[in-house]
Amino acid sequence: MIIKEELIKGFVKNTHPYGCRQEVLNQINYCKNSKKFTGPKKVLIVGASSGFGLATRISLAFGGAKADTIGLSYETGVTDRRLGTPGWYNNIFFKEFAEKEGLIAKNFIDDAFSDEAKEKVIKYIKEQFGKIDLFVYSVAAPRRKDYKTGVVYNSKIKTTSGEFEGPTIDIEKDEMISKKVNSAALDEIEDTRKVMGGEDWKNWCDMLLEEKCFSKGALTISYSYIGSPRTYKIYREGTIGVAKKDLEKTAHEINEKLKEEIGGKAFISVNKALVTKASAYIPTFPLYAAVLYKVMKEKGIHENCIMQMQRMFSEKIYSNNEIKFDDSGRLRMDDFELREDVQREVDNIWSKITPQNFQKLSDYEGYKKEFMQINGFEVDGVDYDADIDIELLKKLEF
Ligand code: NAI
Repeated sequence: MIIKEELIKGFVKNTHPYGCRQEVLNQINYCKNSKKFTGPKKVLIVGASSGFGLATRISLAFGGAKADTIGLSYETGVTDRRLGTPGWYNNIFFKEFAEKEGLIAKNFIDDAFSDEAKEKVIKYIKEQFGKIDLFVYSVAAPRRKDYKTGVVYNSKIKTTSGEFEGPTIDIEKDEMISKKVNSAALDEIEDTRKVMGGEDWKNWCDMLLEEKCFSKGALTISYSYIGSPRTYKIYREGTIGVAKKDLEKTAHEINEKLKEEIGGKAFISVNKALVTKASAYIPTFPLYAAVLYKVMKEKGIHENCIMQMQRMFSEKIYSNNEIKFDDSGRLRMDDFELREDVQREVDNIWSKITPQNFQKLSDYEGYKKEFMQINGFEVDGVDYDADIDIELLKKLEF
């Protein structure tokens, strides 16, 4: 079977397994050739199969610390009817490369929100893996099921204060379009908080603490986003922003408990705007990111997921200096994005951008390439005309 990309409703519908493999390898090679750090030996990452979670896992395994990792994610595998999600292959190939270097790389496919998934991971930690030094919670989910009541909460990308209309990109048609977003009802805001807020991160930490799965002084981190005024209305001041503020508040609660019980620490890293499966869904965000990419590339300070995570671990968290936090106790990996000269230039371009010139004024090409690469397409060094043996894919060891 020859696999070609299929863009439907602005999203890539299929996956190129060997493109995903090459992407994992490219990230590994980036870490191997970067500034190294000494860090945690045993790590749990929930949301490990793509975006920031995958980059976190790769950086910790290959960027100096040589960490054994457990990765939990929610992905689907290959069947006769579908090829499997990119994250499915990222997990498989990460494991292949990590094991070649003698590292443990255990994959779990399960719903992070369920107690059952937590219990399975905890059992594995207690019986086989050993106590964890770092727990990273990097889930971006559209919904959450409450297993006790059966209620399903759906997250919404809406404003919290009136209708918003702004420019965004239709990636399927390569067009800049205008998109309207409605104001959320109170229950929609609450549902989004339930899915993307801090509750489940805290549940994980409570259970891990209770079962004595953390080593002394262990850390736990989750990721947030603030961004620029360009996206405030839809992000920071929207439903997702409410959830992120809840996540940030929860970091303080977890921190108190971790400090008291194991001398550990919990905190948020505020990351940079990047193309990931999750962020492509947020109106205005793709155009803002494409403009930002242009400005940051011109200034030589652009970072993709793996570059962000390698800098975060080597220069901020596991460097020889104390970790620096902002006034709200957050680590700021969005420091380059929010630099005054960067935002001034973004504003300048934003004021001139039109549907006719947006490809020229932004780094749309770079943005789209990274978007396609998430699903394994447009990756250098991959033979896209090669015949792929689906039966072989089905046999790949998870
Ligand atoms: P992503 O879509 O690339 O990855 C999400 C991960 O969550 C995947 O591993 C997926 O399998 C997993 N997942 C989803 N539902 C799950 C479930 N029910 N159970 C277990 N795993 C599940 O997303 P991305 O962008 O890497 O997001 C990770 C975190 O980083 C999120 O908290 C996001 O808000 C944050 N962030 C993202 C930024 C961006 O620009 N992409 C910027 C700053 C923060």
